[in-house]
Amino acid sequence: MITKELNKLFNNELDVNVTVIQSNRPDLCDFQIDEAFRLAKELHKSPFEIANNIVDKIKNIDNIDSIISKIEVVNGFVNISVTDSFINKVVKEVATTSKYGVEEDNKKVVMDYGGPNVAKPLHVGHLRSAIIGESIKRILKYKGNDVIADVHLGDYGLQIGEVIYAIQHDGKADDEITLEYLNEAYPRMSGICKENEDIKKECEEITKKMQEGDPEYNRLCDIICNISIKDIKGIYDDLDVSFDLWESERSAYNYIKDVEDILKNKGLLYESQGAMVVDVAEETDSKEIPPMIFQKSNGAYLYGTTDMATIYDRENKYQPDNMLYITDDRQSMHFTQVFRASHKAGITDAVFEHKGFGTVNGTDGKPFKTRAGNAPSLRDLLNETKDIFISKKEENKDMSEEDLNKIVNSIVKFADLQNNLTNDYIFDINKFSNTSGKTGPYMQYTVLRLKKILDNESIPTELSDNIYNEVDRNLRLKITNLCEAFDKAYENRMPSYIVDYIYDLANEANNFYQTNHIAGLDDETKKNDWLYVLNITVNILTDMLKLIGIDIPSYM
Ligand code: ARG
Repeated sequence: MITKELNKLFNNELDVNVTVIQSNRPDLCDFQIDEAFRLAKELHKSPFEIANNIVDKIKNIDNIDSIISKIEVVNGFVNISVTDSFINKVVKEVATTSKYGVEEDNKKVVMDYGGPNVAKPLHVGHLRSAIIGESIKRILKYKGNDVIADVHLGDYGLQIGEVIYAIQHDGKADDEITLEYLNEAYPRMSGICKENEDIKKECEEITKKMQEGDPEYNRLCDIICNISIKDIKGIYDDLDVSFDLWESERSAYNYIKDVEDILKNKGLLYESQGAMVVDVAEETDSKEIPPMIFQKSNGAYLYGTTDMATIYDRENKYQPDNMLYITDDRQSMHFTQVFRASHKAGITDAVFEHKGFGTVNGTDGKPFKTRAGNAPSLRDLLNETKDIFISKKEENKDMSEEDLNKIVNSIVKFADLQNNLTNDYIFDINKFSNTSGKTGPYMQYTVLRLKKILDNESIPTELSDNIYNEVDRNLRLKITNLCEAFDKAYENRMPSYIVDYIYDLANEANNFYQTNHIAGLDDETKKNDWLYVLNITVNILTDMLKLIGIDIPSYM
């Protein structure tokens, strides 16, 4: 909030536009302005002259002494430190303004994340989509936007055809189709189809007939979906991930015809090697963007087709400003094609966003495996995480299921969300389940520890003008930087900005805690001030952790 306020103040007074940023040399100053170099080029003057000019103007602002304690030019940079009373004024603003002063936006956004495939076990990639998507949704909502979250199930693809084939060949009656059966049948069939072309063809044929409306295949598809969706919902419940809509590839089939007609009427659909395709290349492309295939030569529709039909449906129902997708980065070409084809067809003019994420690797740097050595289902991964956390300390065995679930969530979410989304990251369960280091349990533990101090105290509503020492000042300065961190996360759709912020805040709070002891303090003003500051710290940590899907257990 301080950089925002200073920017407003300075840009009202100066004849050039400057941006105040957090100092990267906190030993020298609190904030800095680096613009003299850019402006020097623009105005054909020396950076020094410009920086001095900026400083002179700032020094002349009315009452500036109450805000700035030191301002100087060092090597063309403007270094600024603020007064303690100004820091306190902003701490109070953060504490008393709704949402800590985060300013509201009011877009309507349809989000598409999760994307599990019915009949196949959820894997680690689906974990990322769910965790990242849920967090971005919470961030968007916190900012005041209207968000509609759709899980977009994969429920009409080849995997269903394969499972139907298995059901029929195993002679399974309806009531013999269970989750256990699906968990066994899908991997078996997928193995068989890799080796046996003829069986694969038969499964493809079943899939196509199902998509064309075959009643028996659709009846079986219903049974498979019901069982599988129940399991998927259970996992999402444990992850505290939720959706407003459970639409799917299958539901998109209702709109394919409409989209096809639009494409045909606009002359955008043409035949290429027997398939029907839409050109999406643009002159400015630096790499080749191949046409989007709308319909295969055998008449079947594809992933891109159902995505376009879904976009058409979402536009008609919700008229969103933005449509935001969270998937593996390897799907980025797919989305480029779908987005371009949709805009060309004019089925929406919403802003499309695709946030692609990297792979989860094990400590060996290869795609993550469980101790049993297989590519894990999501359940296996969550169970293993829980086991490792429990094995860390004798007392962990006695924790309630609810608390353990909160901790497992914090381990996997904090590990994931601290990264730049597009990067691969190494999920080292052992490291991320420690209560020290940049981990979820460390954050939870910090909150619990601070809460204990506040437990039997009455929280003051006033803050004096004093700051008592360096660690105290650092903590308060950090509090004043929440809005900036939040907005970066919001604008870039990148929860890691919030993670970094709360991790720094927790570290400052721990430094504070080690030096400044509240218990037994005689100085009432000091005691009140510190309780005030710790209380707002706990509130910020708790609320921001909630935005990345982490709750605080009852004890640790
Ligand atoms: N089911 C897909 C997968 O497992 C993800 C779906 C993403 N959403 C979408 N509208 N295509 O890769």
